[in-house]
Amino acid sequence: MINAILYAPEYRPNMSSMIRSAEFYGMKKIYIYDKNNLLSPPNNKTSRADMNHLARVWTAGAINHIEIEIIKDPITFLKNYKGRKIATLVNEESTELNQFKFQENDLILFGSEKEGLEQDAIEIMDASVYIPAIGHTPCLNVAVTFGVIVHQALRALA
Ligand SMILES: C[S@@+](CC[C@H](N)C(=O)[O-])C[C@H]1O[C@@H](n2cnc3c(N)ncnc32)[C@H](O)[C@@H]1O
Repeated sequence: MINAILYAPEYRPNMSSMIRSAEFYGMKKIYIYDKNNLLSPPNNKTSRADMNHLARVWTAGAINHIEIEIIKDPITFLKNYKGRKIATLVNEESTELNQFKFQENDLILFGSEKEGLEQDAIEIMDASVYIPAIGHTPCLNVAVTFGVIVHQALRALA
């Protein structure tokens, strides 16, 4: 099975959607570098309601069936990860998704909505992959990217 890390997601709906897709595709665990504290909001009524909403509606209950491992120090985690580390980049110099050969235990990184992946992380990647655009829009939403890439990786490894 492949693995995935959500690298500093900024929006709870996107993060939830990726958790939902990961569980849908049978992943038992997902790593999250929760730099923006989406999973540990302040303990007030609105935040608690948001978290319930996240579990029940946005992840459609998926959050109850997948382990979420929160990564505090992503660079150390990445350096110690045993498989290959694959960045998803909005960069035409990366390998096109259709040409990319996934392997079991690959860890796929998905960047944050505004900034993408941090340079420190990009520097320790084993490879990078991108989905080429046909239209004029420069990039995809990160949660859409997640679905496309995980689907393709699992199909190739089946
Ligand atoms: C909206 S993009 C980030 C945009 C940022 N300005 C950049 O250039 O990285 C958020 C994340 O979605 C993923 N992504 C979006 N479009 C992609 C594409 N065409 N190919 C590969 N990954 C993509 C990547 O993980 C990226 O870090």
